[in-house]
Amino acid sequence: MDFEVKSLMRTSPHTEIIAARYADQAGIKFTQYPPDLLVKRYLGKLMSPAEFSGKTILEIGAGCSDYTTVFLSNGCEKYYANDLIPQRLEASRKNDSRYVALPGNFLEVALPEPVDIVFACLTMMFVIPMLDDFIVRIRDSLKPGGVFISMDANYLCPLSIYRRFADRKPNPARLFSPHRYAAAFRSHGFDVESLVPFTAPAPIATGNWLLGTTFWLKVRKK
Ligand SMILES: C[S@@+](CC[C@H](N)C(=O)[O-])C[C@H]1O[C@@H](n2cnc3c(N)ncnc32)[C@H](O)[C@@H]1O
Repeated sequence: MDFEVKSLMRTSPHTEIIAARYADQAGIKFTQYPPDLLVKRYLGKLMSPAEFSGKTILEIGAGCSDYTTVFLSNGCEKYYANDLIPQRLEASRKNDSRYVALPGNFLEVALPEPVDIVFACLTMMFVIPMLDDFIVRIRDSLKPGGVFISMDANYLCPLSIYRRFADRKPNPARLFSPHRYAAAFRSHGFDVESLVPFTAPAPIATGNWLLGTTFWLKVRKK
């Protein structure tokens, strides 16, 4: 394992599975998903990108994130990009004065200021064994009234379970219930505003927990 990665990560067996997944640095390549399609097929199921205007945003698992461009082009005030794997952040780094890279484990990295929005895409499903620690850190990272937004695989959908086990790389994703996930945020002082299953190219799957391969959660800190 790369020395830099090892020194930045909390030494838990589960975090080591995450680092092992990305140990092949040569395999880290970033190709931007077209932002207009990202909004149309994914984000638009939850909110308008105009809601990012003037907001301070922290993204967990921001390495190779397609959303960085969406936040910056919709007028966010500041964007903090956190990822465990520094090389993944480098691969998608943007040359913009509002962009601040925060490499390291989210549970340990120093955060410059409380933010309006914490965002995580396909990342929380990798940290389910540490979910309570993550929720507490997310709550502490937000201003009062701030929101946390995540998109992850919906393992109530058989296709997502199949995909999870068809993936032969070291895989930190754990099967979990979206409803119990939302309840965990409630128990840590959040109001749940949206919990929506969907499949990006199939509008008919929106709202259907057996057909939606992914789901959005939006919660607000009380
Ligand atoms: C499946 S990738 C998703 C990346 C990106 N958000 C996207 O949608 O393509 C999960 C990301 O979470 C990061 N990650 C996992 N555990 C983390 C932690 N404890 N702190 C910060 N980042 C973490 C991984 O390094 C990886 O870049």
